Amino acid sequence: MKRRDLLKKLGLATGTIALTGVAVSPSLAAIPKKKKVLKIAHITDVHIRPEYNAVQRFKKCLERIKNDKVDLILNGGDSIYAADYENIKKERVLEQWACWKDAVKVVGHIKMHHVLGNHDMWWQGKGDEMYGKPGVLKMLDMPHNYYSFDRNGWHFIMLDSNHPTSPGMLDETQWKWFVGDVEKNSQGKPILIMSHYPLLSCTGITDSKPDATGPFKISGSYNHLDIMKFIDLFNKNKNVKVCLSGHIHLLDKVWYNDVTYLCNGATSGFWWEPGDDGKSAYKQTVPGYTLLNLYDDGSFDHEYIKYEA
Ligand SMILES: [Fe+2]
Repeated sequence: MKRRDLLKKLGLATGTIALTGVAVSPSLAAIPKKKKVLKIAHITDVHIRPEYNAVQRFKKCLERIKNDKVDLILNGGDSIYAADYENIKKERVLEQWACWKDAVKVVGHIKMHHVLGNHDMWWQGKGDEMYGKPGVLKMLDMPHNYYSFDRNGWHFIMLDSNHPTSPGMLDETQWKWFVGDVEKNSQGKPILIMSHYPLLSCTGITDSKPDATGPFKISGSYNHLDIMKFIDLFNKNKNVKVCLSGHIHLLDKVWYNDVTYLCNGATSGFWWEPGDDGKSAYKQTVPGYTLLNLYDDGSFDHEYIKYEA
């Protein structure tokens, strides 16, 4: 390539680059270089089940994630199709978890962190080892129903939105722990939060099919009922950067007060069943997972990967 063409390609004025090719414009040199510290895959609403060839299709998704060479996988809950309905027997619960364990062997070498979805818990058979939240913690090898950890300079907070009476909310004990955990890190690392239910999402607006009669009525499953407490806390602790969620099976992005809220589409699309597009989509959202690159300056970028054509 000729020097003139090279300069044109770089978009630089003549004189800002030396003939040796190593000197750069002083204005470019002044731009601090951020460093990528983590590559993450966010899967959510996998709803794994024996039907619809779901295990093989999920394995195909995990193969893609393996090839993406991520450092970490975050699983946003509703890992299995459903254990929460009244007619579900223990055998069916175990069958679904066996599907999960079989599929995730594909990425067995990659650390995976989970949160609880509303369909993961089996509420029948009180006293059984598979009962309720403890049963799911055991299946997913989770330390607690909410917890936090550090990785490569970022702080990660995993929340349990499954409030016993008002889904889409933290109970008082978890809220106190959460505030303490955010404040402990307020001067330090950038923070990523994951919950199953969205903290803040616009999907509740579109799903409520607004018309001239208004006003909107949005349930806690679309938008955390205690979101104003979160917004107040994030306003005082500016290191909270991004909040991941799922549950809705729709893809949306809300940016409010410098915090990005990503409600990502479902890995299972239309619960693996024939979808609204004649293939596997739920409404307009096709099955997928999200890749996120996290940087040392607290910034990030992300992309929704449609793994199933
Ligand atoms: Fe859900």
